[in-house]
Parts: sequence; C-alpha cells; structure tokens
Amino acid sequence: MKRALIKHVLSSPAGESITTGGWVRTRRDSRGGFSFVELNDGSCFASLQVVVDAKLENYESEVLHLSTGSSVLVEGILQSSPGEKQATELHARRVQVLGLAPDDYPLQKKRHSFEFLRSQAHLRARTNTFGAIGRLRSQVSFAIHSFFQERDFCFIPTPIITASDCEGAGHLFRVTTLELENLPRENGRVAYERDFFGEPVYLSVSGQLEGETQALALSNIYTFGPTFRAENSNTSRHLAEFWMVEPEMAFYQLEDDARLAEEFLKCIFRHVLDRCGEDLKFFDQWIEKGLIKRLEVLAEHDFEMLSYSDAIDILKKSKKPFEFPVEWGRDLQSEHERFLTEEHVKGPVIVTDYPTEIKAFYMRLNDDGRTVRAMDVLVPGVGEIIGGSEREERFDVLKERMLKQGLSLEDYQWYLDLRRFGSVPHSGFGLGFERLVQFVSGMENIRDVSPFPRTPGHAGF
Ligand code: 4AD
Ligand code: MG
Repeated sequence: MKRALIKHVLSSPAGESITTGGWVRTRRDSRGGFSFVELNDGSCFASLQVVVDAKLENYESEVLHLSTGSSVLVEGILQSSPGEKQATELHARRVQVLGLAPDDYPLQKKRHSFEFLRSQAHLRARTNTFGAIGRLRSQVSFAIHSFFQERDFCFIPTPIITASDCEGAGHLFRVTTLELENLPRENGRVAYERDFFGEPVYLSVSGQLEGETQALALSNIYTFGPTFRAENSNTSRHLAEFWMVEPEMAFYQLEDDARLAEEFLKCIFRHVLDRCGEDLKFFDQWIEKGLIKRLEVLAEHDFEMLSYSDAIDILKKSKKPFEFPVEWGRDLQSEHERFLTEEHVKGPVIVTDYPTEIKAFYMRLNDDGRTVRAMDVLVPGVGEIIGGSEREERFDVLKERMLKQGLSLEDYQWYLDLRRFGSVPHSGFGLGFERLVQFVSGMENIRDVSPFPRTPGHAGF
C-alpha cells in the first residue's frame, strides 16, 4: 500500500495527486454538498483537511458515518484552500473506510484531563498532547545520539540483568526463574545456586559500573537504555522503569564532567527548538506559557555552579519554612532543590561536593575527607535532572570506602581491578531521559511523558 505521510502531503505543492491515510479527528458536513474531514496520522502536529464531495458513491453509505477515531485511506488532488487555517486541502476522489470507531470511542471531547487519558494509555497517542510527546521523545533521543557520536563517544549497551547494585540504595527488582511458591532452600537460606544464573541477579538501576570498564579502554563511551528502580515513590518525577543516558569519560575530572553536562543539555535544547517547532508551539500555548522563550534563554546562558556547603548556607539564610530540616550532612530534599534552582538561581544550577555519607561508594573522596566529587544538575520545575561524579580511581581509597559501606570485595573484584591495572582519573553522569522530556515540554507529570509508565501498583494499560 503506497501512501504519503500527512507531514509530506502538507508540504507538497497544490495540483499533486495523493494517497494518504489516517484517523479522523472531526467531520463537518456543509449544506453545499460537501463534508470536511480532519485527518491526522501523527507524522506531524497538523491535520489534513479532506474535502469530500457528496457525489462520491459511498458518501451516504460510509462517509456520513465517519466518526472521530475512524481510519480511512483517501486518494485525491491537493488544492490550495480558501480557508484560513490551512494552505492546502485534499479533494477526495476516493475515500476508503478501513475501520469505523463507534460512539463509545473514548476520545470524543477536544480536551480530556491527563488523569482520564492515563486510563486510555492505549489510545492517548492519538491526542494532540501525546502525539507531540511521542515526536519530541524521538527527536530528543536522536539529539542524544548525535551529540555523543559527533564527539567520538562510543555507544555501548550495558547489561539490563546485573548482579551489582550500582547506587547501593537497595531499590532492586529481582530477576529469577525460581518458583516463588516453592523456593529451594539449603541450611535455612534460599539456594540461589539453583537459580538461572547461579547467584542473585537484578534489573539494572544504572549502567555506570559496567560503563567504566569500557571507558577505561575506549576513552569516551555512553550508554542509553532502560533502568529500573523499585522505589516506592509516588511522585510526579519518579518512574519504576525509565531511560537513562550515561556517558563515562577517561581523563575527565569533575569540572570537565560538569562542562560536558551543560553543553549536552544546551545542545538538546537547541535541537528541539530547531526540529520540534510546531510541537513546542503547542506546549507553549497549552502546557507552559513562555516555554519556547525559556528554552531559547537556557540554550545561551551559563549554568551556575555551587558547592553543597554553599547551598546549605543559602537555604539556611533564606529563612523559608521548609518541611524537611536544612542541615549540613543531610541530603537535599526536592523542596530544597527547587528553591535553589527556581528562586535563588532562577535557572539551572550544578551543585557539587556533597557529603560522603549521602552519596554512593564510587565517588572520588575530596582532600577534606568528608565530601566527594559529586555533581547534581538541578533545573526549575523538575529538580534533579542529572546526577554524576568523578570516580574514585585510587585503589586503597576505594577499597576502604567499600569496606566501610559493607560491600563485598569479592563481588566487586572486577571493579577494583580497574584500579589495579592502569587506573586513570575518570568521570561520568546519568541523565534521566523522561525528566529531560518533562523539562523541554513543560509537562507536569512524568507519567505523561512516557508512553507506558510503570509506577508502584501500575504496570499495564
Ligand atoms: O542520580 P542517579 O541515581 O545517578 C546514577 O544512577 C549514576 N550511576 C549515574 C552516573 O553517574 N552514570 O540517577 C541519574 C538520573 C537522575 O538525576 C534522574 O534524572 C534520573 O536518573 N532518575 C529517575 N528518573 C525517573 N524516575 C526515577 N525513579 C529516577 N531515578 C533517577
Ligand atoms: Mg541522584
């Protein structure tokens, strides 16, 4: 079946003979013996106006039954349109109805609430908002690969099934083929030797540790794939399954890492401004007023940098009645992060050098002995969008920290080996893909920027 995408039809010159298809948004019948059918196929934001003459043989039997959501193939001639809303319209010579959508089609109204649309996840991609999100996600993915490929980073897929808990937070989904109702036991404990991999394994929370093995051979690498966290966080920023972009660079120190993160984000902002104009215009009008201007400003201005200790001072001096106490040594809560980025800096801010106790074991220890070379990039509306660090490359220091945190040196022998054989300073970061899409679209809830959101208690449609 040869058919043109509506995106291409809309940029074709009048006079062309065209076959196209899509789903009906609306049908309007005029008394002059015509019907106007708005057709959308998701290839672009705009719909195509199809003009159907009542003289077509299936006009009464089929065209007059075309309801919202029905699918059709149309053959016709593109003509310039007298209407203000579109430059051209398709004058149908043949309308083939493929599938009617009866009255109980759930997307009848122009605007449904996002809560309602979450209950229609299998159909919501046909709405303006979710079509735009789908195209935006695709363009952002493209920009991510381009950014790294243009800078000679090697794309490495890191494993999804892993035996290590990179972040040490214990938010792991277990992977097993053991029968849960009938677990094999030995000496009172589960006999994992009899499990598929012969040891306990999990879905990866981050590809970083494996990524480091590749950076210490190929220099600059990145991984971009799904990650899984069994955190029981029911917030507008957490998913149990999300995508993460993780570059890892040999010979990079924290400052180099931060510079790369900033350049990376700005490059993505510029890419979507260049390539997603129509969709951004929609978000700007309906989701977040001023979005385009915001992205334009962000793409040009330097991000601020702030140490964790300075951030604590700023938060204390603000005299804001925070719900969680502000105290050196405690992790920054979302309300603190949002104050820093939204009210204090009024833009993106990179917070560095966090206390050792609240960060993962692999981060490089500072000379003060109580902070590590960590960085979080915070942005307005979302909070933390990137988490990264310089890695501890000194064998003795790393070993001591692992012992302190109760990690098994045996299990992480391979990770320690990287420090025994030709260790070099290296750094990297992880960007939450869905949080980035939230930020560039202005969407409030992360469940609405993922086509198939997985959250506690919800893994289906
Ligand atoms: O800060 P995180 O936990 O960092 C790491 O996992 C490092 N190993 C990355 C690295 O250095 N290679 O996670 C990185 C980012 C966060 O900043 C956030 O944007 C996103 O991943 N993220 C989530 N996004 C959606 N839902 C969740 N539950 C998320 N948890 C983290
Ligand atoms: Mg983090």
